[in-house]
Order: sequence, then structure tokens, then C-alpha cells
Amino acid sequence: MSGDGRGSVRPFAVSARETYLHPTSDVSPRATLGPGTQVWNWSQIREGAVVGAGTVVGQQTYIGVNARVGERCRIMSKAIIDTGVEIGNDVFVGPSVIFTNDNAPRAWSTRDLSRIRWVVEDAVSIGANVVVLPDVSIGHHALVGAMSFVTRNVPPHALVMGNAARVVGWVCKEAHPMTLDAELADGDLYVCPETGEQTKILKEWATGRWLPAWPR
Ligand SMILES: CC(C)(COP(=O)(O)OP(=O)(O)OC[C@H]1O[C@@H](n2cnc3c(N)ncnc32)[C@H](O)[C@@H]1OP(=O)(O)O)[C@@H](O)C(=O)NCCC(=O)NCCS
Ligand SMILES: [Zn+2]
Repeated sequence: MSGDGRGSVRPFAVSARETYLHPTSDVSPRATLGPGTQVWNWSQIREGAVVGAGTVVGQQTYIGVNARVGERCRIMSKAIIDTGVEIGNDVFVGPSVIFTNDNAPRAWSTRDLSRIRWVVEDAVSIGANVVVLPDVSIGHHALVGAMSFVTRNVPPHALVMGNAARVVGWVCKEAHPMTLDAELADGDLYVCPETGEQTKILKEWATGRWLPAWPR
């Protein structure tokens, strides 16, 4: 383990395992699961939902009607992924992450929530207990700190944390904090101190004008 709590990087191998549904899981016959998907104890996957190949869904997780989860994702226990959530590939959703779908709920009425959408692009990681407000998207390779309350779009490669979550830095593909290397006309070049790999942080990411490109 290195001293920064991140340890060494070991790729998560998605083997050619069979799809596994724990006997207590409740997967709608109208949900679509890719090969090698695992769904563990007491999790529910609703009708019309799509879960991509090799994705692991932990215990007591809810995946709502028509929600979409990509390939090779890890959805940890007690996450709530409601209707309107569209998650890309290789996404980590921490335990008890909640995408909230009604900004002003009342017990006695149900709003039309059908137009709410969250886009979580490829290779995002969302820490434990994060709450994401409706119509908020998260850009590829972003890292959302534990317990964050995400009220605004999170640009690609951003490290965000807090209540409300704010950009506090930029991370590489492997979630190392990057340092500024050079200023360019259309953004800043950041470099990973571990690997030397450079990533361009576009101006529109840094200025909060980013919008998700996925689904394409
Ligand atoms: C956000 C995160 C990546 C930051 O890690 P880091 O860069 O090593 O940060 P540090 O521990 O050096 O902390 C830096 C500062 O940020 C604060 N901080 C760290 N994580 C925070 C969080 N999630 N929310 C708010 N503040 C946080 C620290 O208190 C510290 O503040 P200080 O400088 O005033 O003392 C990490 O703390 C985190 O939350 N990771 C997600 C863990 C998780 O949920 N994993 C799911 C698997 S179960
Ligand atoms: Zn790196």
C-alpha cells in the first residue's frame, strides 16, 4: 500500500463467469442482463432496466424501471438507481449512493418524474453515501468523495467533495490527484505524478459549462 490510501492498482478482472442471480434477488423477467452479471442478496431490478455484461450488483440495491447500467460496473450495496439514471461502462457506485428523483416530495401525491435524467459517464467513481440531485450528470473519470451532496454537474476528471460538492482538484484515469503542467489556449494540461500521463482539462470543464456527451 502506498501512503495516500489508494494502494497499488490491480485491474478488476471480469472473468467469463456465468450470470448469477442470488435466490433472494428480485429481477424482473422484463429486465435485460448482460452475460456475467451478478445480482446479490435482496436486490431488485425492475422491468425495462438494462444491466451490462460483467456488472456486479451488491446486496439490497434497487435498479428502477428502465434505468440503464453499463458493462463491468460495480454497484455496491444499498445503492438506489432510479428511473432516469443512465450509467456508462466501468462505473463504481459506492454503498448507499442515492439518485434522488423528487426535489419537493409530498407523501400524498406523485409528480411526473418521467423527464428527469442523470447521466453518469464511463469510468466514474462515486463514493459511499453520496446523494445526487435530479438532472445532475457526472463526467467520465470523475471521482466523487464519500458523503458528497452533488447538486451540480460534475465535469470529467474532476475530484469533487462536500455538501454541496465542489471541484477541489483533478484526477487521472486511476484516480490519482494530478498537478498542473502547462496552460493551453483551450484548457490546462495536468499530469499524473505516478505515471507521467497527461490529461487536458478543457476550459468548459473548469468553468462549469460542461454537459454530458453520453449517451451518444
Ligand atoms: C475524496 C477523497 C478521494 C479525497 O481523498 P484525498 O485526496 O486522499 O484527501 P485527504 O484525505 O488528503 O483529505 C484532504 C482534505 O479533504 C477532506 N476530505 C477528504 N474526503 C472528504 C470527503 N469525502 N468529503 C469532504 N471532505 C473530505 C479532508 O478532511 C481534508 O481536509 P483538510 O485539508 O481540511 O484536513 C476521499 O477522501 C474519499 O472520500 N474517497 C471515497 C471513499 C469511498 O467512499 N469509497 C467507496 C468504497 S467503499
Ligand atoms: Zn495516475
